[in-house]
Amino acid sequence: MSIPADPVKLMKQEVGKAAANLVKSGSIVGLGTGSTTAYTIQYLGERLKSGELKDIVGIPTSFQSEVLAKEYGVPLTTLDAVDHIDIAIDGADEVDPHKNLIKGGGAAHTREKVVDYLAKQFIVVVDGGKLVERLGSSFAVPVEVIPMAITPVTNAIKALGGKPELRMGVKKAGPVITDQGNMVLDVTFDSIDDPVNLEKTLNNIPGVLENGIFVNCADIVLVGEVIDGKPVVRQL
Ligand code: 5RP
Repeated sequence: MSIPADPVKLMKQEVGKAAANLVKSGSIVGLGTGSTTAYTIQYLGERLKSGELKDIVGIPTSFQSEVLAKEYGVPLTTLDAVDHIDIAIDGADEVDPHKNLIKGGGAAHTREKVVDYLAKQFIVVVDGGKLVERLGSSFAVPVEVIPMAITPVTNAIKALGGKPELRMGVKKAGPVITDQGNMVLDVTFDSIDDPVNLEKTLNNIPGVLENGIFVNCADIVLVGEVIDGKPVVRQL
């Protein structure tokens, strides 16, 4: 694996690899989405290839993680074929001191929530810049909405005091369309005092499929940092 010069990339690579090292042979593994878990999937493939790790199967949380698993030789299965997930490894956009998360920077939070909550052990992998005192400080809450309900859901979120913005594509005209064929509203709140209730309130709006607040689910948060020019991984 080549060492990237960019410190953020370096942190992501080291923490992604540290999480892959926690996977044991014979495990069913939830494969998260994003640039950090891309390194986890790559390293799982390398461990399988070297023979150090055997008989794992992955459950992808997105089209991206499915493609990466195929590229790096991680065998895949589906939730119809297994009765549990041993370990899930996923990134996050914000992590608070209670290990509550905002996810969905890659618009994959719906499938990620299904897989991450099912896992017996859920490992979060982030670089140090993702740690916040309070959720919503630096990242909006992604809300996946079925297309026919985008206007009423937008109005309902405004009535709750949120500022919703339709996520637009990059190198694609028009909105981002999720792996499920839906749209994403990125919602800014002045302050998220009660993430447990906000998660429920948003999901109760008819037309909302899922939002990116993940509460009481992370078991371990691994944080990648660069100290004195060297990458260090610590547990929150
Ligand atoms: C995708 C996610 C990602 O896990 C999150 O955006 C973190 O991504 P990255 O590791 O690229 O910073 O929630 O929906």
